[in-house]
Amino acid sequence: MAEHDGEDRTITAEGLRRTFGAVPAVDGVDLHIPGGRIFGFLGPNGAGKSTLVKILTTILDPTAGKATVAGYDVQRQGGKVREAIGVALQDVGLDPLMTARELLVLQSQLFGKSGEEARQKAERLLVTVGLDDVDPKKRAGAYSGGMKRRLDLALALVNDPRILFLDEPTTGLDPASRVGIWEEVRRLNEELGMTIFLTTQYLEEADRLADEIAIIDKGKIVARGTPDELKREVGDEVVELQFAQCEEAAQAYDALAGIAPNRQASGHDVRLYFGRAAENVPELVRALDGAGIRLQGLTIEQPSLDDVFLRVTGQALEHEVDGAGDATAGPPAPDGLASGEPARDAALAAANEEVTP
Ligand SMILES: Nc1ncnc2c1ncn2[C@@H]1O[C@H](COP(=O)(O)OP(=O)(O)OP(=O)(O)O)[C@@H](O)[C@H]1O
Ligand SMILES: [Mg+2]
Repeated sequence: MAEHDGEDRTITAEGLRRTFGAVPAVDGVDLHIPGGRIFGFLGPNGAGKSTLVKILTTILDPTAGKATVAGYDVQRQGGKVREAIGVALQDVGLDPLMTARELLVLQSQLFGKSGEEARQKAERLLVTVGLDDVDPKKRAGAYSGGMKRRLDLALALVNDPRILFLDEPTTGLDPASRVGIWEEVRRLNEELGMTIFLTTQYLEEADRLADEIAIIDKGKIVARGTPDELKREVGDEVVELQFAQCEEAAQAYDALAGIAPNRQASGHDVRLYFGRAAENVPELVRALDGAGIRLQGLTIEQPSLDDVFLRVTGQALEHEVDGAGDATAGPPAPDGLASGEPARDAALAAANEEVTP
């Protein structure tokens, strides 16, 4: 990692809570993220990821608790926090009629840069995110989902942040675009020592990218550690048994209680955790045979974050498969770009307004 200026790049939270009516969206979150880390915040829909990002980026006030970002209190020193951070929120709110350069220049000017400085910065950032060879006249509304994400990333980098918040940066992207964003994020972290706080619903993304992961479910952190630590907690090896019917999987789950106390069933599969898997296979097969349950397949694997997730939340993380990303360019969402003060005020008003179903 390159030498850095020693400025504070940490993120902390203590008993952080945010309720919407009676619903606790973030329910007592404690964090201590040292500078220079890639921290992955993993959770299903509605877990509280975006709410937490909005609190840490000063868009939303917490109901209780305390958080600091870059050493500053998010509630009392919001301006200082915003100078130190970059944010790409989940709903990309690019003005569809503006070009990438126009958007970047405008964003730089919101941070007080002169016209010429802003133009130079825009060119550099387009190179950084790999959009420099796109037709300069192309408007953001005509960008693909992956290009919009890259542009949004560039916008978040305009003020040279030392901490970057990315809320689901690759949701809806095809695998190649996703890998492109991962490379970019890793480079920003390695070359600039940027702390990166990213939320994701993708286990693979958290596994591949994050130095440390927290799994959030219903507003609470239910597990945390490095990807390897989390996997080791589940067991050393996994035997996956596949069945033709869910009922057979449920019967097998019950029948194998004595042989494999550490196990979980999900759909047609039962996964059993052992120190050494192969040694247990003959006994497993005999037990299933004895119970008259027909096995369709058996594989031995290393535990994955899926196993961790299933264990701590009691459910599998559903993978969204929507490929091409958002092709439509709607009007800019109020909380699309939260770094400029005017944009932030609009975002704050929108975010603090409770939506009643
Ligand atoms: N402005 C709001 N008004 C009312 N409820 C809200 C508001 N924002 C979030 N919530 C509720 O808070 C909970 C957490 O939402 P949040 O957006 O933080 O989840 P998330 O983990 O980001 O989900 P996703 O993966 O779908 O983006 C949900 O139950 C959601 O309905
Ligand atoms: Mg979200």
